[in-house]
Amino acid sequence: MQQQEQIRLLEQSLALVGSGQTDLSHPAGAIPVDRYTDPLRFAREQQVLFRSLPILVGFSSQVRAVGDWFTHDATGVPILCVRSDDGVLRAFLNVCRHRGARLVADGEGSKQTMFSCGFHGWTYGNDGSLCKVPMPESFPDLDRSNCGLVALSLAERHGFVFVVPQPKSPTTEHAVAAIDQFLGPLLAEIGSFGIGNYVMTNPATQTRKLNWKLHMDATQEVYHLPVLHKATAGAGYFQNCSILTHRAPHARVVMPGPKIHELRPEDRANWRLLDHAAVVYALFPNTTMLLYMGYVQMLSVFPVDTDTSIVRTVMLVPPGQVDAAEAHHRQCHLVTYWSTMAEDLAVCEQMQANMRTGANAALRVGRAESLLAAFHRTVDEMVG
Ligand code: FES
Ligand SMILES: [Fe+2]
Repeated sequence: MQQQEQIRLLEQSLALVGSGQTDLSHPAGAIPVDRYTDPLRFAREQQVLFRSLPILVGFSSQVRAVGDWFTHDATGVPILCVRSDDGVLRAFLNVCRHRGARLVADGEGSKQTMFSCGFHGWTYGNDGSLCKVPMPESFPDLDRSNCGLVALSLAERHGFVFVVPQPKSPTTEHAVAAIDQFLGPLLAEIGSFGIGNYVMTNPATQTRKLNWKLHMDATQEVYHLPVLHKATAGAGYFQNCSILTHRAPHARVVMPGPKIHELRPEDRANWRLLDHAAVVYALFPNTTMLLYMGYVQMLSVFPVDTDTSIVRTVMLVPPGQVDAAEAHHRQCHLVTYWSTMAEDLAVCEQMQANMRTGANAALRVGRAESLLAAFHRTVDEMVG
C-alpha cells in the first residue's frame, strides 16, 4: 500500500477514534432471505461465481520447487496444482483420462515427476502429459496427445494461486487474463505488505450448516464486534469504528487498534498502517484475509448446498524459525482468532436455521454494514 494511502487511512482512523464515530457514508439496504435459501439461485451462484471466476486455491509457498504439488477439492471440482519441470505452476482436473478414477489422493507432496493412476497405472508427467499406458497394444487408436490431464486456467500472483474451476477454454483464459484487472490493484496492495513469501500454518477445514454468503457477510462489518466478540476479538478494537472501502467487486475494512494512540505526528512520513490497525480484505467471491499483528488469517468459504458450506482457514506467517516468545504470541493470536471464528460460525448457523421461519422477508443492513449490501449487489449483477 502506498505510504500516502497508509497515512491517509491512519489520519482518518485518528479522526474517527477521536470523535467516537464510524464510517457511515454509504447507504443502508436489505437482503431478501431467498438469497440464502433458493436452490435455483444457489445453482446459478455455483455455476457463475465458482466455475468461471478465478478462485483462491492455495499459496506459492506450497509449491515453490519443481515437482511440488497440492490438491484442492472444496469447490466441488477435484483440482491438482503442480510445479512442472519447466518451473511453470499448472492446474489440472485430478481425474484419470482412462476411465476417470481420481488420480492423486487428497494432500500435497514434493519431487513428483510423474503421477500414476492407482486403477490401471496410466501415468502422467508433472506437465500433465500422458507418458505411460500399460499394455499399449490394447489401445490401438489411442492418441496420447489428446489424453493428457485436462488443464485448468491458473494465475499465480503475489504468492497467491488462483484457478478457474472448469476446463481451460478461451473463456477461462479470459478470466485469468482479466485477473489483473479483476484483482490486480488490490492484490498489488496486499502484496506490498510483503506477505508473498509467508508460509502456511494451522490449516483447518470445517463443514458448517450455513449459506456461503453468510460468512462473507459476517467478515465485512464490525458492527457485531462489541457484542458477539466482546470477550474475544472485540476486546482489542474501538466500538463500531472502521473505514469501509468498496472496490467492486472486492472490499477492504480498516479497524484501528489501541496502538493508534502511539502515532506521533512528527513521524508521519514513516507511519505504517499495520502497526496501528487491522485490515480485512474481502476478495470476491469467497475469501477474506485479516492482516493483523504480523500475521495473515485466510478464510475461504465454499458452497456445498443452500444451507451447507465448507470453511477453510489457514494462517500465513513469515518463514523461518521462531523463538519461544514469538511462538507464544502466535499461539495466543490463534486462540483468539479461533474463538472469534467459532462465535461467527455459530451465529451464522443460527441465522441459516431461521431463514425459513417467516420472521424476516429480508435481512436489514445498516450504513455501518454497507459492504454487505455492496457484496450482494455484485452477486446479483453477476448471477443475474
Ligand atoms: S482409470 Fe486411471 S488407469 Fe484406469
Ligand atoms: Fe465476527
